[in-house]
Amino acid sequence: MCLKLSFCTLCLLFAFFSPIWSQETSKEPPKPSSSKDFYVPIGSSVELPCGEGVDKGLEWKRNGSVVVSGPVLKLHNTSLEDGGIYTCYGSNENPIESYHLQLGYAPSTPEVKCWAPRYPLNAVCTWTLTPDPILPTHYIATYWYVEDDLPAVRLCLRQSEQDKQCVVEIPDAASHIPILLNITAVNALGTTTHTLSLDIAELVKPDPPVNLKATLLSGQKVQVQWDPPPTWPDPVNFLLSYQVHFYWGKHNLANILGPYESTSMIRGGLVAGRTYYIRVSAKDFLGNGQSSEWSDPVNITAI
Ligand SMILES: *[C@@H]1O[C@H](CO)[C@@H](O)[C@H](O)[C@H]1NC(C)=O
Ligand SMILES: *[C@@H]1O[C@H](CO)[C@@H](O)[C@H](O)[C@H]1NC(C)=O
Ligand SMILES: *[C@@H]1O[C@H](CO)[C@@H](O)[C@H](O)[C@H]1NC(C)=O
Ligand SMILES: *[C@@H]1O[C@H](CO)[C@@H](O)[C@H](O)[C@H]1NC(C)=O
Repeated sequence: MCLKLSFCTLCLLFAFFSPIWSQETSKEPPKPSSSKDFYVPIGSSVELPCGEGVDKGLEWKRNGSVVVSGPVLKLHNTSLEDGGIYTCYGSNENPIESYHLQLGYAPSTPEVKCWAPRYPLNAVCTWTLTPDPILPTHYIATYWYVEDDLPAVRLCLRQSEQDKQCVVEIPDAASHIPILLNITAVNALGTTTHTLSLDIAELVKPDPPVNLKATLLSGQKVQVQWDPPPTWPDPVNFLLSYQVHFYWGKHNLANILGPYESTSMIRGGLVAGRTYYIRVSAKDFLGNGQSSEWSDPVNITAI
């Protein structure tokens, strides 16, 4: 009897848009506490049958409330609110089937962004999925050197499998060898992969300079000083160049001075009574990659 029930349960189970079973049908009639995970794409339709031959007195309940009397539970154009635990009870109030319906999306192709704030040590890549798959999703992040004869697949390092950020470690002198990065997203509804080619040197993007200070000097001058971004590993051997942005009044009144190799500069010709906002950005000295974002501004009022 038990075997027959589970066989028929299997052959009757039917759902549109191929939802995916994560567990096999057990031979014992399941209790509500052992509901099977059932993953459904949002917007799809679902039919859940309950026990063949015993179509009298069957009821589907959700959280203890009857949702339908009869053997088949049908949901159309499902939305997130349809998620939950559905249990089918026989006339003797015995639970026959129980499903944990979970709604979401198969992963879309990850959109990947990489930069190298700690050049030449490593590059950081992050990715986003639109729409959010909602269901638990894990990621596999790997890379290899394009020019290797027998490319060895390396792991792009992460804190956890759910983390949407990874770190490519660059061995000495390999920063001009292109790599292929493979970001694969996996959940109960599907798998997608984005493979992209990266030239680490083009990814160089320092973090902004820090400890920005402006000091008025006599003769309508200002001295601006700053420190290199603390994340840049070796400002002595891997020089940075800096630009200094002055703006005042409306933001369209502005000028950008530089590049400077040192971490200070002096500007003259200030107008008395005018408040100047000053910020600094850094770029790899050899011109690799992009400028950092601007630092937070400081302001100074000329007297
Ligand atoms: C069902 O119960 C769960 C857990 O108690 C709750 O999170 C969910 O919102 C409930 N759903 C409905 C439709 O009442
Ligand atoms: C499905 O439901 C959504 C809202 O939940 C609605 O915008 C859409 O028009 C519906 N589609 C169909 C085919 O009924
Ligand atoms: C990307 O990684 C996934 C998961 O490891 C793998 O199945 C897939 O074959 C890889 N794609 C390429 C193009 O190497
Ligand atoms: C100028 O900078 C000081 C901090 O140094 C800040 O408190 C003040 O709000 C700034 N003034 C303007 C007008 O932004």
